[in-house]
Amino acid sequence: MNIMLFGAPGAGKGTQAKFLIEKYGIPQISTGDILRSAIADGTKMGLEAKKYMDEGKLVPDSTIIGIIRDRLAEEDCKKGFILDGFPRTLAQAEALEELMKEMSISLDKVISLNVPDEMIVGRITGRRVCKSCGASFHVEFNPSKEEGKCDFCGGELITRKDDTAETVEKRLGEYHSQTAPLFDFYKGKGVLAELDGTKDVAEVTKDIVSILG
Ligand code: AP5
Ligand code: ZN
Repeated sequence: MNIMLFGAPGAGKGTQAKFLIEKYGIPQISTGDILRSAIADGTKMGLEAKKYMDEGKLVPDSTIIGIIRDRLAEEDCKKGFILDGFPRTLAQAEALEELMKEMSISLDKVISLNVPDEMIVGRITGRRVCKSCGASFHVEFNPSKEEGKCDFCGGELITRKDDTAETVEKRLGEYHSQTAPLFDFYKGKGVLAELDGTKDVAEVTKDIVSILG
């Protein structure tokens, strides 16, 4: 099964992906996680991307498309994948169509998690992420079982550098101008399913599973 989670920053894509990995046995492909790990490794690509990410801007399409091309070619993607945070521009969506055509595969479902902007700032500023596996928690709405420790791998929970109120506003701006138009792109392809992303985490998971089967 090849699926994509679509929605604004903080809509809950990463949170839901962690449950879907276990449920369907397919990997999550998060371009944000891949970029953060390149930054941690100090690679040239990571250092270049960091400038954009710290400012809440999108990283150039050519970098992102290269990342996805390499990742989709890996063995574990043959059984399916969960795209999280990609594509984010029309050029990325078109490049993905080309890549999938070459691989003779297609997207089975694009799940849009709908959350209004007013809720996004609170979600992102209260987020804590696992340093080891990237899982997201929230100090109030989705706390880890043990304070400061990841439920999935026991890793340390930290605050992402770009999770400030100021950067969130910029990321939301990028989302509305560059990413939101993809909603119609996928609607036109007949693969889009819309969900209320304001429900609690477990309810959203249930709604996704009822769509995917
Ligand atoms: P990325 O890492 O993708 O960040 P983002 O888009 O800002 O999305 P998030 O990961 O922050 O949101 P999410 O929907 O996964 O929310 P989460 O589940 O954590 O990208 C970072 C940067 O990298 C970008 O700004 C850009 O520079 C660059 N980049 C990445 N991909 C790119 C691309 N394709 N093209 C160009 N540039 C790219 O949830 C958020 C919070 O809410 C958490 O605290 C969580 O616990 C809580 N929460 C989740 N669900 C619920 C719920 N149902 N109820 C209450 N709280 C909830
Ligand atoms: Zn973890």
